Amino acid sequence: MINLTDIQVRFAGTQGTIEAVKDVSLHIGRQEIFGIVGTSGAGKSTLLRTINLLERPTGGSVIIDGTDVTGFTGVELRTLRLRTGMIFQQFNLINAKSVFGNIAFALKVAGRTKDEIAVRVPELLALVGLTDKEDAYPAQLSGGQKQRVGIARALANSPQVLLCDEPTSALDLETTSSILELLKEINQTLGITIVIITHEMAVVKAICDRVAVMDAGEIVEEGAVYDIFANPQHEFTRQLVARSLNLDLPQRLREENGGRILKLHYRGHRAEEPVISETIRRFGVRVNILHGQIEYIGGQPLGALVISLDGDPEVVEHAALYIGSQIAGLEVVQ
Ligand SMILES: Nc1ncnc2c1ncn2[C@@H]1O[C@H](COP(=O)(O)OP(=O)(O)OP(=O)(O)O)[C@@H](O)[C@H]1O
Ligand SMILES: [Mg+2]
Repeated sequence: MINLTDIQVRFAGTQGTIEAVKDVSLHIGRQEIFGIVGTSGAGKSTLLRTINLLERPTGGSVIIDGTDVTGFTGVELRTLRLRTGMIFQQFNLINAKSVFGNIAFALKVAGRTKDEIAVRVPELLALVGLTDKEDAYPAQLSGGQKQRVGIARALANSPQVLLCDEPTSALDLETTSSILELLKEINQTLGITIVIITHEMAVVKAICDRVAVMDAGEIVEEGAVYDIFANPQHEFTRQLVARSLNLDLPQRLREENGGRILKLHYRGHRAEEPVISETIRRFGVRVNILHGQIEYIGGQPLGALVISLDGDPEVVEHAALYIGSQIAGLEVVQ
């Protein structure tokens, strides 16, 4: 669906050239929800904006449905923009226009008649669950409602692709989930391909199929969401997973448990449970579960379990060695 080949974006700055995007190649499949995560200034927004040529790459090509659109201008460019809707962190609504007016504007720009607009706007409002807000102004809406207007506006001209630049970063957790549900529904019922930039694990976990991690203008990791988070290579990805799992053990717990403390990592299988019962059976040690959290990403468990082993010190060492021989992801905490 979307093929980015060796995309390069350079900006001329006062201190020389800024290479915002360096030779990025990506394939995003039809109807996929593709996430882009990464540090601030990594070039995520710039890369996203090359897809609808809001940012024209200084090198490489943007190919959509087999057509090289990189050089598009005039009518071709306008048509491309209509085929790619976009939503933003700060919603970018026109404050002086009502909800109806904001959505109607996108249709007017596309040359739709008044009658067509009168039919289409209520359809879009129903789709995003805002039928009763047609006459409200942005200032009278909550953040979540504003983003729903943004989504309705982006979908006004029935695009095939929806580009989302941190669409939930200005929203609280609950509103974030409702917006993500809406995006997922749009993806499934309308078959729209979604590319979404985010710095929130919740977003990636909830809706993305695949994810790319960007750092300093380059893609440093890319793959199925589960694989990237089960085995993060880049520091940013590691932090994202660690923040989400929050498995730091309070100091008090360490002090109270003088014995061996082990952290067992879950990566896609539940082999750890039989190992724990087998350890107790074989060695007669006491096993306490101190902390644990399992997330499900794409239906597969990801997380860790922190346990302490108590008993005769020599037996505990043997038990720990046994667990280590059975589990790939074992970390000795103390
Ligand atoms: N129009 C521009 N002119 C000059 N430099 C720019 C321009 N747009 C972006 N940059 C620079 O390009 C780099 C990448 O910016 P970009 O906005 O794409 O990053 P980002 O990953 O989206 O960051 P954030 O997470 O903070 O939104 C930054 O160094 C930024 O300062
Ligand atoms: Mg950005």
